[in-house]
Amino acid sequence: MSGDQAAPYAHLAPYYEVLSETRDWDAWLAFVQAVLEKCMGQGRFDLLDAACGTGRIAVGLRLLGHRVTGVDISEAMLREARRNAEAARVDLPLYHQDLRRLDLPGSYDAALCLCDSLNYITEHGELTSALCNLRRSLRPGGILLFDVNTAWKLEHVYGDYTYAEHVGELSYIWENAYDPERRTVTMHLAFFVHEGGRRYRRVDEVHVQRAYSHEEMAAALAGAGLQLVSWGEVAGLTPPEPVEERVFYLVRRPETG
Ligand SMILES: C[S@@+](CC[C@H](N)C(=O)[O-])C[C@H]1O[C@@H](n2cnc3c(N)ncnc32)[C@H](O)[C@@H]1O
Repeated sequence: MSGDQAAPYAHLAPYYEVLSETRDWDAWLAFVQAVLEKCMGQGRFDLLDAACGTGRIAVGLRLLGHRVTGVDISEAMLREARRNAEAARVDLPLYHQDLRRLDLPGSYDAALCLCDSLNYITEHGELTSALCNLRRSLRPGGILLFDVNTAWKLEHVYGDYTYAEHVGELSYIWENAYDPERRTVTMHLAFFVHEGGRRYRRVDEVHVQRAYSHEEMAAALAGAGLQLVSWGEVAGLTPPEPVEERVFYLVRRPETG
């Protein structure tokens, strides 16, 4: 019997970092810091971590001396981000907002939108709106660094596969369905949370990601008034994950506009 359907990350949030065990967080942080240094020189900057999730990268950047603000659509992920910031004893302002309707006070030297967060925006027009909102949050000349899962990854890594695993107190079944026409993957996640003895509570969430071709992304960036600086090996640096699975984009808000 199926449990209640919840918003993406409502149940996953406390396990997000455990389930991301193969991700090299230090390599991601070093990559982001290296891109910032290449583009803006050494310094402490005002950064926006858009779709910050559990705030692990935001906290890392805060510890490197930057002033960081996080924003995310998921209250559950923001709770984890608050916990991570408290554990690291850093100040990390957090906002509960949707990138498609972003309205933040202040402006930033650079914004990040990492780890396939933009793939969750499945309409091209809404992707353009989100990018446009990110442009508005930047100071003139400010940069935006983001990455997206590729169509190859959605088709061949997520594909139509089903995974099942036990991680500590949590067991889960993750069933995927790839739609080649829409280039979307729908991920049905059923979590079985151990409640003691033989009792498990089942909770479900559905995640949908869409892949964007480079042409679609370039059109969305142009529509949002952002200049494409480089993609793939951005700033001449090797990204932390294989380019056939994840493509990084480095873009800039023009000095005027
Ligand atoms: C895979 S996680 C990445 C989190 C974090 N950036 C990282 O590097 O670990 C995707 C994040 O995107 C957020 N997200 C998805 N759609 C969003 C939207 N429209 N506005 C704001 N956040 C969104 C989710 O809530 C989730 O925290």
